[in-house]
Amino acid sequence: MSSRHPDPRQLPDLLEVSQTLGTTLNLRTALQRVLAILEENHGTLSGIIVLRDDEAGDLAVEAASGGTTNARTRYRMGEGITGRVVQSGRPVIVPRVSREPLFLDRTQVFRRSRENELSYICVPIRAERRTVGALGAALPYSRDRGYEQEAQFLGVVGSMVGQAVRVHHLVEAERKRLLDENTKLRQELTERYDLRNIVGASRAMQQVYEQVAQVAPSNTTVLLRGESGTGKELVAHALHYSSPRAKKPFVKVSCAALPETLVESELFGYEPGAFTDARSQKKGRFELAHGGTLFLDEIGELSPAIQIKLLRVLQEREIERLGSVDSIKVDVRLVAATNKDLEEAVRQGTFREDLFYRLNVFGIFLPPLRERKTDISLLADHFVEKYAAGQGKDVRRIATSAIDLLMSYHWPGNVRELENCIERALLVCEGGAIHAHHLPPSLQTAEVSGTLPRQSLKDALAAHEKDLVLDALKSARGNRARAARLLHTTERIIGYAVRKHGLDPSRFK
Ligand SMILES: Nc1ncnc2c1ncn2[C@@H]1O[C@H](COP(=O)(O)OP(=O)(O)OP(=O)(O)O)[C@@H](O)[C@H]1O
Ligand SMILES: [Mg+2]
Repeated sequence: MSSRHPDPRQLPDLLEVSQTLGTTLNLRTALQRVLAILEENHGTLSGIIVLRDDEAGDLAVEAASGGTTNARTRYRMGEGITGRVVQSGRPVIVPRVSREPLFLDRTQVFRRSRENELSYICVPIRAERRTVGALGAALPYSRDRGYEQEAQFLGVVGSMVGQAVRVHHLVEAERKRLLDENTKLRQELTERYDLRNIVGASRAMQQVYEQVAQVAPSNTTVLLRGESGTGKELVAHALHYSSPRAKKPFVKVSCAALPETLVESELFGYEPGAFTDARSQKKGRFELAHGGTLFLDEIGELSPAIQIKLLRVLQEREIERLGSVDSIKVDVRLVAATNKDLEEAVRQGTFREDLFYRLNVFGIFLPPLRERKTDISLLADHFVEKYAAGQGKDVRRIATSAIDLLMSYHWPGNVRELENCIERALLVCEGGAIHAHHLPPSLQTAEVSGTLPRQSLKDALAAHEKDLVLDALKSARGNRARAARLLHTTERIIGYAVRKHGLDPSRFK
């Protein structure tokens, strides 16, 4: 009765097995289902699938049917028929188990069966040229059974299972890689948005740190206010990453960047058919932020229609997707930010008063940079450090002349403008320090804003010369010859400048 091909009558079973393995995501569920198919369509009395557990060095039962075995049962390598099949990679056919001492009947199928005699067939499961497990099945004994063909059929099922195991291993490995990467990225984010990365020692900033520390552990809604570029988004991140929600998502919605119709579907999501283009379901940002923090940036830009909807969500902590009548509970901590004068907007009637109060439960005000001048040089140093390495520059200092200029500017764009200004200065800077002339023209013409004293060309040049010589002397630790080399000039010229500007090189030793 031997044949090279499975009986064509068995093809529907094989098709069903392959469909099950191909469509079920959970491997155990799929394997259990394969055994059920064998039982229902093929008359097996019991079935078992074991897979190698490489870590434990033994075999674990992944699926079992018809007997008493459960998924916790384990086999040693080489133990019983199943263990032998995995070890040898060859099928074993036992026509009459009553005559086979190796048959352990771990599944107790024989003892419990009403049949007088059972047959047992066990085939290897192979994946990537290696035996990774075994598939065993008990059948009622029958003298006319074509055992070879039976084993061949189970062999085909075994190789399909092997494919599924291989895919499962690949997916698992990829999942693990993604999880590891996710943990690493999350760690990076946590570090990046750590409170310690917010620079500033001014009284005003200390108050901000205190407020963040106070409110971060709670679920209180926070409203961040302050001019553009003062660090509202930075603080929103810090709030999230120093809160108990840190391991859950931080989701941002930029209210100004989206047209009104989109804001709504972005926030709340939609169901298929909610509007003409809505083919599939889409989760809104509220749902995506579940368990975490939702950051509503530029909240002052919300249209009145959305303001009402947002108010409702804040009151009921429930959302409805567009085109749906079911409410979904959302657990979200809300942080909102604006550079608008919301009180004025309330007076003008463009911002709802009730929403304003709901949002402004805990307000944090980020002071403009011009009101905390002591932070300017700290921030400037911070940005030099942040960008110098990235640009491959070995710039360590900001010359006094440049600091003076930075201090006298009024910074309408606040910290963002300072950051851009330092980044640009590093680009054009060729030495080891940033000088006044590396700073953008907007700062040079600060006299327009009345913040710089009028200077003649002669005075400006002299000031610049003094700066350069001072820097060189600092770098050369007061050594005039080395300072001269740094400036591509002679020691005599340096000596002249030292006298002219009343410098004391011994200070830098
Ligand atoms: N205290 C600070 N320490 C370090 N970096 C800061 C600080 N404040 C702001 N920054 C940096 O300045 C830039 C602008 O900050 P952020 O985007 O948070 O400002 P914003 O208040 O949200 O501005 P806008 O209202 O224009 O959106 C960012 O690159 C941020 O990292
Ligand atoms: Mg912002």
